[in-house]
Amino acid sequence: MSDHPTSIELTGCAKTFTDGTPAVRRADLQIAGGETLVLLGPSGCGKTTLLRLIAGLEQPDAGGRVLFAGTDVTDQPIERRRVGMVFQSYALFPNMSVRDNVGYGLRVRRWSRRARRERVDELLSMMRLDELGDRHVDQLSGGQRQRVALARAIAIEPHVLLLDEPLTALDALLRERLRVELDQLLRRLGTTTVYVTHDQAEAMALGDRLAIMNAGEIVQLASPEEVYFQPADGFVADFVGTINRLAAATRDGRLEVLGTEIGPCADNNSAVVRSVLVRPENVTVCAPDAAHFVGTVETALFLGDRQRVVLAGIGHRGLAVDAPARADVRVGQRLPVRLDTDHVILSCEPELETTE
Ligand SMILES: Nc1ncnc2c1ncn2[C@@H]1O[C@H](COP(=O)(O)OP(=O)(O)O)[C@@H](O)[C@H]1O
Ligand SMILES: [Mg+2]
Repeated sequence: MSDHPTSIELTGCAKTFTDGTPAVRRADLQIAGGETLVLLGPSGCGKTTLLRLIAGLEQPDAGGRVLFAGTDVTDQPIERRRVGMVFQSYALFPNMSVRDNVGYGLRVRRWSRRARRERVDELLSMMRLDELGDRHVDQLSGGQRQRVALARAIAIEPHVLLLDEPLTALDALLRERLRVELDQLLRRLGTTTVYVTHDQAEAMALGDRLAIMNAGEIVQLASPEEVYFQPADGFVADFVGTINRLAAATRDGRLEVLGTEIGPCADNNSAVVRSVLVRPENVTVCAPDAAHFVGTVETALFLGDRQRVVLAGIGHRGLAVDAPARADVRVGQRLPVRLDTDHVILSCEPELETTE
């Protein structure tokens, strides 16, 4: 829909609320035209505030700048930025029909009745809501309402689409279905999109890049693959999936984990290695003579496509391991495992947080 997708740039953007809360500490961010950037982080980390800064619903602290397509829009209110927004609570007009909700922004912009009708028809069909145009929105399911909210947001052909946890209110099945539809829609539209979520699966599926936020700061900005396979720190590693942390050291070019040598250490940077991070899918159940460690099965959770096993006696917190779905794993059993040495991540953070 956008012929020239709008790039977004934030420089030195912080937001401290009048009560002193530093909701965003500092954000320097460049979003390419047509890109979908996902802001991912725990509740209260500043995602909504950052989105509102982009929208023009909040002003950054002195010195912060927001640019759309290279033009400084910091002092422009939301009406002048051509952004479409969708919130978690869809905030539709309850007494209006689907059609009137979707066409609302066009009416405000004084489109003719005929042009409005054509555009709304097009959007209803895109969202597969054709049959529901004359219904009141309070007669719709959650998923249908969410699609009306999206249709309303894109009706005005926004240069920038801002979505704040738009799927959170839906049940799991619907969320997964709409996630796929949304992904296709965003790619088709080519609109620059900033998508806020605290759901890592949603973030991975939708984002061209992810900005992982913690306590008002962007701690990593990278592709989903990079965030998952090369997390910037322990916080990111934990936030985007389960990960084990085990005490480690390097000695004469060899890597030792919990005192066991597991292989050569290719890493030639001089930072002191204190632990390794390894995901459950990179620990495999193996024959006893190939084992790096042996642990006692504490729990085994059947997940359909695999089993998530926790082994006691390996590291301080136990070791999470993925075992094949059909493997015979029983609580109390001794299980030999080995680390997939190509996929352990070296870290200079210690195994245990001393601040806990
Ligand atoms: N209007 C406000 N006044 C004061 N503090 C606020 C306001 N809005 C949000 N905050 C605070 O700023 C922090 C970040 O909030 P928010 O951006 O909503 O986080 P998220 O969307 O990641 O959950 C939180 O500590 C929140 O309580
Ligand atoms: Mg929020």
